[in-house]
Amino acid sequence: MTVYEMQREIMRLKKENDICILAHSYVAREISEIADFTGDSYALSVKGAGAENQNIIMCGVRFMAETVKILAPQKKVVLSNPAAGCPMAEQMDRELITRLKEMNPGRAVVAYINTTAELKTVCDVCVTSSSAEKIVKAMPEKELIFIPDINLGSYIAKKCPEKDIKLVSGGCPTHARISKRDVDSARSAHPGALLLVHPECVPEVTAAADYVGSTSGIMNFAKSSNAKEFIIGTENSIAEHLQYDCPGKRFYELSKDLVCHNMKLTTLPQVLQCCRGEFGEEIVLETGLMQKAKKCIDKMIEYGG
Ligand code: 13P
Ligand code: SF4
Repeated sequence: MTVYEMQREIMRLKKENDICILAHSYVAREISEIADFTGDSYALSVKGAGAENQNIIMCGVRFMAETVKILAPQKKVVLSNPAAGCPMAEQMDRELITRLKEMNPGRAVVAYINTTAELKTVCDVCVTSSSAEKIVKAMPEKELIFIPDINLGSYIAKKCPEKDIKLVSGGCPTHARISKRDVDSARSAHPGALLLVHPECVPEVTAAADYVGSTSGIMNFAKSSNAKEFIIGTENSIAEHLQYDCPGKRFYELSKDLVCHNMKLTTLPQVLQCCRGEFGEEIVLETGLMQKAKKCIDKMIEYGG
């Protein structure tokens, strides 16, 4: 089957089987073309939970599918490729956070949404890269612990000097491998271009950027800017999507290494198989766990909404 034939068959099966497809902005172009919603992790969780369809296929990584399941437990939520996890989401476990809380009584725990459902059960509020600053500012507590991304945490700590934020050492292996040296070489190769980066990058990289924001933030900034050239400092699929969406502008990758292999695991033929019920993993979480984890996600929507 050609790409076009597969896409047509997926569109037919979506209708026949009452399926909503969610695609994170990091997945391949041919998948985002057949998705009902594309976007960053915050937008996808809200859109997924609010969708009218009974069946959701999440083309992204496991924590994203878990978040939708927690927000809409009555729906069947399928992760497009069972092997697609976010390494950062699995860096910390419940025991570690429980110990941290005991050692820091009174500090509220702010969890990046890139965490497992189990970890969310012991955290106070979730944030995404697009909502973190607003949520942290809105929290009544002054003393916080931010997990698991030390780079996003230190970026938010700078934006919220009124808060006392304790950071814990974790992060995204894809973004953390980008260095100031990559910035310098991209800037000298494209001297007129604006540098747009994700806050999961190390502080020397975010400090050198013209704009720092979530995947959707970066895309919106580039689309609405009058500038014509941009260096994109997040997963390289964003530069590709932007080049399709804005043919009159030029987009350069900050580094060839900005590839999230987990986000690349889902392929179009697999999405077709998911629509036929032949592939993917249905997310099944224990009810008590979902109720506890939901408190932390509900707080995110309350403060960030
Ligand atoms: P966004 O919240 O910007 O979608 O980021 C998710 C992610 O995994 C970034 O690496
Ligand atoms: Fe996780 Fe990083 Fe991949 Fe995002 S880019 S899903 S944070 S490993």
